[in-house]
Amino acid sequence: MSKSIQDELIKKESLFGAQNYSPLSVVLERGEGAYLWDVDGNKYLDMVSAYSAVSHGHSHPELVRTIKKQSEKLAITSRAFYTEPFAKFLEKLSTVSGFESILTMNTGAEAVETAIKAARRWGYFTKGIPENKAEIIVADGNFHGRTTTIVGFSSEDSYKKGFGPFGKGFVKAKFCWSGCSIKESIESFKSKINRNTCAILIEPIQGEAGIRVPENGWLKELRDLCTSNNILMILDEIQSGLGRTGKLFAFEHEGITPDGLILGKALGGAMLPISAFLSSKEIMNHFDSGSHGSTFGGNPLAAKVATKALELLFDERLIENSNRLGDYFISKLKKIDNKIIKEVRGKGLWVGVELNESKVNAKDLCLMLLKEGLLCKETHKTVIRFAPPLMISKDQIDWAIEKITKVIRSI
Ligand SMILES: Cc1ncc(COP(=O)(O)O)c(C=O)c1O
Repeated sequence: MSKSIQDELIKKESLFGAQNYSPLSVVLERGEGAYLWDVDGNKYLDMVSAYSAVSHGHSHPELVRTIKKQSEKLAITSRAFYTEPFAKFLEKLSTVSGFESILTMNTGAEAVETAIKAARRWGYFTKGIPENKAEIIVADGNFHGRTTTIVGFSSEDSYKKGFGPFGKGFVKAKFCWSGCSIKESIESFKSKINRNTCAILIEPIQGEAGIRVPENGWLKELRDLCTSNNILMILDEIQSGLGRTGKLFAFEHEGITPDGLILGKALGGAMLPISAFLSSKEIMNHFDSGSHGSTFGGNPLAAKVATKALELLFDERLIENSNRLGDYFISKLKKIDNKIIKEVRGKGLWVGVELNESKVNAKDLCLMLLKEGLLCKETHKTVIRFAPPLMISKDQIDWAIEKITKVIRSI
């Protein structure tokens, strides 16, 4: 296919589609493993992974087989009926995660909304907060999705401008990263607690904000703060979970357990959307029949694919690979040692390179990397985030490092 056909497709998408994204000028057609091909047959190494949704690699043969087999048998029923794939998925995810009870949805934002509902019901029915007074503390710089409730407590103007009025019941405290004082951040959370506080909702590492990795010990102190104040700790691990940071869940780095956990993205094996809120029976039992739901949430096709995706996560040692190659990738990026790079930070195969704004814009650098065959995405003008599929090999990382070094040195 010629360049003019790529241009034509881009024009068509721009003409008929809403302009809520600004994609790089490449029209993708096919994926396999860590690679993607455009409509002209050019090959790229995927360092975006659909914002951490592609852990198993593109079109994993076993996941393709699973989706094909299950869709020929039974794809969608409503939750008005029981199905075997859903029952087995719940058992698998509970066993793997250690959480007693699971509520499935489709997108990440829906699972976050579910967590908010669970926390509020627990607050009213267990903690005894007066009706409609429940408060949830979130962190500044948060990203939990795009519903009107969620963007209402974002710190990012572009996510919320013109979408109000927003719901009440959220207050922001100081996230702790890059040289921040843990004490100051914990004090900030503490100062927002009152008798109506039902939960603290945070990402253990802030992805959208630019791979902000908290100071060691911060999460543990926050856990203690929640416990001593009878507040639920809810972690949004939609991006950080399922091996992305080199452990099954990012909270394991600090040896803690949250009261509620939110998963999405990679849970669907880079095939289908499926998300989940996980918690104890005590918290989850506040949902009774009719109180919450989703037409597609927990459908047998997504459940079957997600069960296989969980199996493969362990069978193919993707978590170990993320841990080992993540450390390697970060050390190699640090060695590039160029004035353009202000900081390299991350955990596992989830890395942010903060650029010196006066030298180069992150989107321009992504365009240069695209020409070298590397698909990357900027966040907030100054950070390039690298999140390759967790099945990436050392050779592929070495190749990426060669290209990144070449582009950076050329500036
Ligand atoms: C931490 C976090 N929470 C929630 C979401 C929203 O997920 P979705 O886009 O599937 O609604 C995202 C998406 O990037 C995310 O990174």
